[in-house]
Amino acid sequence: MLFCKTSTSLMKEIKANNYSIYFSSSGYRELDLFIKANNYSQIFIHLDDNTKKHCLEVFLKQIQKFNFKKILSKPGEKNKNIQSCVQLWDKLSLLSGDRKSLILNLGGGVVGDMGGFIASTFKRGIDYINIPTTLLSMVDASIGGKTGIDLGILKNQIGTFYDPKMVIVDPLYLETLNKNELISGYAEIFKHSIISSSEIFDKLISTNTDINFNNLQTIRDSIKIKNEIVLVDKKENKERKALNFGHTLGHAIESYFLDSKTRLLHGEAIAIGIVLASHISSKLFGFSSQKLNSIKSHILSIYNKVLFNKNDIDRIIKLLVHDKKNSHGKINFILIKDIGKPVYDIEVDNNLIIEAFKYYSI
Ligand code: GLY
Repeated sequence: MLFCKTSTSLMKEIKANNYSIYFSSSGYRELDLFIKANNYSQIFIHLDDNTKKHCLEVFLKQIQKFNFKKILSKPGEKNKNIQSCVQLWDKLSLLSGDRKSLILNLGGGVVGDMGGFIASTFKRGIDYINIPTTLLSMVDASIGGKTGIDLGILKNQIGTFYDPKMVIVDPLYLETLNKNELISGYAEIFKHSIISSSEIFDKLISTNTDINFNNLQTIRDSIKIKNEIVLVDKKENKERKALNFGHTLGHAIESYFLDSKTRLLHGEAIAIGIVLASHISSKLFGFSSQKLNSIKSHILSIYNKVLFNKNDIDRIIKLLVHDKKNSHGKINFILIKDIGKPVYDIEVDNNLIIEAFKYYSI
């Protein structure tokens, strides 16, 4: 059993803004105490078809019995939209949800982002807890209080900042994932190291293809990095923008492929965005070409190379205007001077973006 071998320091909670992030069995103990201490009128478990099938039983085995009702949403980014929210709000209402209800989001980024969003808006805000079941949502989406949904193909355009009451991270759920989903989450782990820690960056680069994606130490280190950034800048006025490294082009690439036959997971698009942003960083801020090449070869040792033609690149560049970091009509990139040294709100010429795609493609 995974958690029997886990050392106490790895299990220690991480304090976030107004809540804590708990690990493995300690998380379920805290959840039991939390449910006992708060007199919720109703507890809803928000799931999708996949987590209902693969994770609900695992979750229920870990906690003491309590009464709950299930609310289901359809899986996948294409369902992270207002229509799904209307169905969930209707369901909550139909099942007599009131202001003293609690939602437990058991799932990946879509369940967490959308569940957080419906919690933040239903009856002007009810409590919720995230129990992420994918690597991506463990290290990123479930942490930091951002909730949201997509607008058409444009990601996370509608949303709120609304903290969960707690987050429970248990690598047990990762056993239900396929390799592609694990490597999708890894892109955020790698990004966290690039924006903040040479030590973790060097460690990840040196492991290359031997990465153990389920490793609790790696997951915890990554959550700690994100949490520390959110603690200084929750509303993304400055420092939190660093978490968007690789995401300006990454999100545009992800949106572009949502409409095509090629399926690209979030992390696969972000991995490409990381290479592109690192290349632009080398041109504008003298980011070391040796580190740039290490980033590219590390990414390509994990992710399949995606082919882009001129038309693809032109259309991806057009999608950049919708990035949430833009202001006053400018497209703002996050770049790096070095590992752990992000620079914010940088305008980038389209020719540099095209050059970066060339570097990625050769
Ligand atoms: N995923 C980026 C953030 O939470 O700010």
